[in-house]
Amino acid sequence: MTKRVFSGIQPTGNLHLGNYLGAIRNWEQMQHEAECVFCVVDMHAITLWQEPAALRAQTREMAAALLAAGIDPAKAILFNQSQVTAHAELAWILNCVARVGWLNRMTQFKDKAGKDREGASVGLYTYPVLQAADILAYAATHVPVGEDQKQHLELARDVAQKFNNDFGVELFPLPEPVIQGPATRVMSLRDGTKKMSKSDASDMSRINLTDDADAITAKIKKAKTDPEPLPETLEGLKGRPEAENLVGIYAALAGTSAAAVIAEFAGKGFGAFKPALAELTVAKLEPIAAEFRRLLADPAYVEDVLHRGADRARAIADPIMARVFETVGFLRR
Ligand code: TYM
Repeated sequence: MTKRVFSGIQPTGNLHLGNYLGAIRNWEQMQHEAECVFCVVDMHAITLWQEPAALRAQTREMAAALLAAGIDPAKAILFNQSQVTAHAELAWILNCVARVGWLNRMTQFKDKAGKDREGASVGLYTYPVLQAADILAYAATHVPVGEDQKQHLELARDVAQKFNNDFGVELFPLPEPVIQGPATRVMSLRDGTKKMSKSDASDMSRINLTDDADAITAKIKKAKTDPEPLPETLEGLKGRPEAENLVGIYAALAGTSAAAVIAEFAGKGFGAFKPALAELTVAKLEPIAAEFRRLLADPAYVEDVLHRGADRARAIADPIMARVFETVGFLRR
C-alpha cells in the first residue's frame, strides 16, 4: 500500500498554538516525505450553526493560515472539503456500515451536544463517519492529528475494517494515527486540565497564530501557574498540569524535548521561565503572522490554491470511489 497522508482542520475560529504544535507542524514535515492531502473541513463546520458569509471568509482565512504556517501547495494538496463530492458520497455509504452503538460511544458528540442532545443536529452525531470518509476516500494510510482525535481515528479504522469484511474486499487500508511531538495535547493557558480550543470563550486561554508580539507576551505573562519553581526532573512535573503544559510548549517550539527544557530551567521560577517562553513564541510565530496578513490581502490567490487543490484531490478520489460504487453494487454508467 503506498503511503498517503490525509488530515483536516475545521474553519471555525483561528488557527491556535494547539492546532499548530499538535498537528500542523507534522503536516508541514510530512509534505516533504509523502503524498499529502490537507483539507479545510467546511462540511464538518456546519454540524454546528455557521453564518454563511462568515463560513466562506473563515474557510479562506484558515487556508491562508495553513499556507502561512508552511503548507506548500506545490507539494501538498490543499483544498476545502465541500468542493470534492466524494466526501459526502462516501460518508453516506459509511453511515450504512458504521453502527449506532459505535457512535454512541463518541465522547466529542457528548461534549459538543451538551445537555440538549435531542436538539443537536444529526450531522453532529454522524460527524465521525464523515471524518472516516475524508480519510478513506483517498485510501490514506497516515493521519497526523492531536491526541483529541484518537477516538475518531479508531472509529475510522473500525469502519474501514467492517467495510472490507462485509464486502470481502481489501479496498481500504486501516489508517494509522500519527500523534507525535512534545505537544500532542496543548492545554488552555487559563486551566491546565482543559485543552486549548478555538471554542473557549476566553481568548486569553489560547495563543492564536495571528496574535501580535504584545498579545502573545501578555497571554503568557497572565497564564495560570503554581508558585513552585520548575523541578529538577520530568517526574517533578506530575500533578502540575500548568507547568507541564508550558514546558511542553517550550520544548515543541524550541524543537527539543521536555527533559532538555527541564535541564535548562531546573530550579528557576516562572518569573524567569515565562519571559523566555514569550520571547521564543514571538520569534517562532511572528513570521507566520506576517505571511498570514500578506495572504489575507490576496484572497484570489488563496481561492485559486483551493480550486487547484480540489482538482488534484478529485483525481485521487475518483478511481477509489468508482471501486467503492462497484463494490457496494450501485448501478452506474
Ligand atoms: P480541529 O479543527 O478541532 O483541529 C485540527 C487539528 O488540531 C489538533 N488540535 C490539537 N492538538 C494539540 N493540542 C490541542 N489543544 C489541540 N486542539 C486541536 C486536532 O487534534 C487536529 O489534528 N475532526 C477534526 C477535523 C477533521 C479531520 C478529518 C482530522 C475532519 N476530518 C480527517 C483528521 C482526518 C477536527 O475537528 O480538528
